[in-house]
Parts: sequence; C-alpha cells; structure tokens
Amino acid sequence: MADTATTAPENPGDDATRRDFLLYGTIAVGAAGTAAALWPFVDFMNPSADVLALASIEVDISGIEEGMSVTVQWRGKSTFIRHRTAEEIEKAVADDGADLRDPQTDAERVQKPEWLILVGICTHLGCIPQGQKPGEPRGEFGGWFCPCHGSHYDTSGRIRKGPAPLNLVVPPYEFVSDDIIKIG
Ligand code: FES
Repeated sequence: MADTATTAPENPGDDATRRDFLLYGTIAVGAAGTAAALWPFVDFMNPSADVLALASIEVDISGIEEGMSVTVQWRGKSTFIRHRTAEEIEKAVADDGADLRDPQTDAERVQKPEWLILVGICTHLGCIPQGQKPGEPRGEFGGWFCPCHGSHYDTSGRIRKGPAPLNLVVPPYEFVSDDIIKIG
C-alpha cells in the first residue's frame, strides 16, 4: 500500500509555519494518493507498492523562503530542501578550492544555486545531521552537524571535518516548474 510522505517545517513557530506544514503535507499526500490509485494496475512481479509509492515525490517550494529549510520524506529517507541565502552560496563556492575529502564543486551539487537538495543521512553511520531547524548546531562550516560522532558539513553539504567519508548525497531531482521539484 502507499506510504504517506510527510514533511516538517523548519522555520520558527509562527502562523507561516503552520501554513507551510499544511501546504507540504497536502502535496505529499496527493503524490502518495496518485500512486495508490495506480495500485490495481501494478503487476505482482513489479517492485512492491511501497517502493512505487515513494519512487518520486513532488514538492511545492514556492513557500520556502530564503534561509528556510524543510525536511520531506522520500523513499523513507529524510530529505533536506534548503533555500540558501546569498551568503551561504558565496561560502560554498568560495570553498570549492578547499582541501575537500570528497571533492566536488558547489556547481556540481546544485541545479539552481539557491536550492540545495540533500538526502539527510550522515555518510558515516547514518544518523540524521542537525542544522535543519533554527537553533540546531550547523557545525564549523555552517551547513549541518552530525552529533553522533562529530561530522561537520558545509553549506553545500560537503563533508569538511569528522569521521564521515563522503558528502551528503544529492538525490536525483528535477524542476518540474519554477515552484515544483520532483525528487526521485
Ligand atoms: Fe554521523 Fe557518525 S553517524 S558522525
């Protein structure tokens, strides 16, 4: 059966937060509902309905303001959508030439500089890094921090310090329109 993708707003608790939550919840459920409607036509030899239901999700990003992050569930994984500030983009690009453990330029990790999409799973042992919610530690490089064993990711989601071997993964995604991202 279809799973239900959920999202959590990460901006301060105000009315906008509630609206954002409802907005993203509605879209995610709509995506799952579409998959569920297709169920009778799914051959039993094909991947399970769970897999099909979560193969891709569409997220309306129009309400995610600059500096705001949201977390959506994609294929059972917390997936981060960050609307980066100009300062965060600048910092990420400036560090392209740094001594990177898993070398990648910022441009290789984004389709549009202001939008960074990441699978929110630490590449060390799989904890969910902090830095999505206001007040959470973002580590020494201003991106995300995994408190499990102290991995620091930068504003491009690249590993910069700590035991994690690789950058946070950028999932397959595309811009369906300026406001809609399809992940998966
Ligand atoms: Fe993140 Fe170990 S799981 S640092």
